[in-house]
Amino acid sequence: MQTPSGSKCHCDRGSPRHGVCHCKGLFNEGARVAILDIDEKGVMDSALQLDGKYGRVIGRRVDVTNRSEVEALVSEIKSLWGSVGILVNNAGGALNTPYILEEIDEKDWNLVVDVNLKGAFLCCQAAIPEMARKGRGAIVNISALAATGGPLWLASSIQPPRPGSRG
Ligand SMILES: NC(=O)c1ccc[n+]([C@@H]2O[C@H](COP(=O)([O-])OP(=O)(O)OC[C@H]3O[C@@H](n4cnc5c(N)ncnc54)[C@H](O)[C@@H]3O)[C@@H](O)[C@H]2O)c1
Repeated sequence: MQTPSGSKCHCDRGSPRHGVCHCKGLFNEGARVAILDIDEKGVMDSALQLDGKYGRVIGRRVDVTNRSEVEALVSEIKSLWGSVGILVNNAGGALNTPYILEEIDEKDWNLVVDVNLKGAFLCCQAAIPEMARKGRGAIVNISALAATGGPLWLASSIQPPRPGSRG
């Protein structure tokens, strides 16, 4: 990831925890960063590692498929820091579900679609009014590699291309 002023945080294809990389890039640019994840211990550890002392990072256990949890975090950010300027929709991926078509059951399908699509939808719905109020904002939607091509086995994670999206 390269931030507007050029500092870089490198994510290799296949490396885990892309979200941590995005957070580091923004933190290094001086941003205040709210990290959310459904994994409470993971998100608290990440927040602590990123900024143990300056109070520019918070970590919260939030399920992106749950509207009230997402809205509560946006309200908290607003009261702590005034507004939301940048939203990175990163939660998602294949989420350890099978990728062979015949092996995917409906529960797996619903999970992947809910986290990848509904999660981004709910986060955008919660954050955009704050950005509009301030007259500016940026949204980065992280997609699967399948969105830019890739091998056939990735077909189960193909997402429609979105304007301005990069894999
Ligand atoms: N790993 C790769 O090679 C790769 C390549 C291209 C794009 N991506 C994309 O990058 C993003 C992150 O992938 P990653 O490889 O870092 O995976 P990862 O599994 O390390 O990160 C995904 C995170 O989402 C969290 N999560 C799952 N369900 C959630 C929910 N309901 N609410 C909140 N958080 C939830 C998980 O706990 C996990 O920490 C995904 O959107 C993926 O499609 C990954």
